[in-house]
Amino acid sequence: MIELLNKLFSAQSVSGGEKPVMDVIEAELAGACDEIKRDALGNLIAYKRGKSSSPRRVMLAAHADEIGFLVTFIDEKGFVRISPVGGINWVASAYSVINFENGTKGVLVPDADAKVGEYGADKFYVDIGCSDRESAEKLVKIGMRAAVAPQLVELAGGRIAGRPLDDKIGCAVLIEAMRRLEGNPDDVYCAFTVQEEVGCRGARTASYAVMPDISIACDVTGVGDTPGAKPMAVKLGGGAAIKIKDASVICSPELVQELTKVAEEKGIAHQHEILSAGGTDTSQMQLAGEGSVAGCISVPTRYIHSGVEMCDLADVEACVQLFVSYLSR
Ligand code: CO
Ligand code: ZN
Repeated sequence: MIELLNKLFSAQSVSGGEKPVMDVIEAELAGACDEIKRDALGNLIAYKRGKSSSPRRVMLAAHADEIGFLVTFIDEKGFVRISPVGGINWVASAYSVINFENGTKGVLVPDADAKVGEYGADKFYVDIGCSDRESAEKLVKIGMRAAVAPQLVELAGGRIAGRPLDDKIGCAVLIEAMRRLEGNPDDVYCAFTVQEEVGCRGARTASYAVMPDISIACDVTGVGDTPGAKPMAVKLGGGAAIKIKDASVICSPELVQELTKVAEEKGIAHQHEILSAGGTDTSQMQLAGEGSVAGCISVPTRYIHSGVEMCDLADVEACVQLFVSYLSR
């Protein structure tokens, strides 16, 4: 899992620029599915044929994009201004190393006179080490993508921290589930989607291509188990989080029940999730075509959209097992 995550982390995939990570995913899925397709937006859909004589269409989705920045302006002193792609937490992003898509590095810092309360794109710049516009323009172009540098550290208790676990941990769960899955009765379409962080756009076209009967996303969800956290029943180490609702979707009760039953029967650690803010690809898959029975298996994650997102590897394994058990029954 660590090795797979490191490979996924090494391919930057700011929304709209996911091709590098899709290439990694495609290589990792070799031999684990019957067919792989990509669409015009860049979604990658891996297909695994069902053994049943009348297979249903089950769609899985994890988003392969990550939050980041676009270069908007380079000033006469060579400082680079940026625009956010997705929900940037500016406090968490301050004073971090930035990687541009062409390999250029810089550091993201707030203007010297910016107050924390007014942090936002207009108060931040990237210092790439150049002292004038001309030399900076040789390294960085308007529209170039960038992100906080990836990192992955192993902590005590089987926990890991770094970025972007949102949602490369979900991609890793689905890759591993596809590798383990054998003899699935239903047709499985496993989508690695683009542009989730800017409004679940990839999942929209991918689900129209698949037209699923049943759909299940895998994404990170928040937790309520840290100091000062809002009350929330999900905790790190509590197992796979079966989503009931978030701000974008009310999951199909029959699927919530079915996933819960499978987890109980197989002895897979699980918990139930209601996330007050935030959404996921489930919302698009549920509404595609005539609609699908939709749900989500979430990976409990602390400090989402920071550089130190944290997961418990036992929860990650529980998510893999729940996907495989559900799809095998
Ligand atoms: Co996110
Ligand atoms: Zn996500």
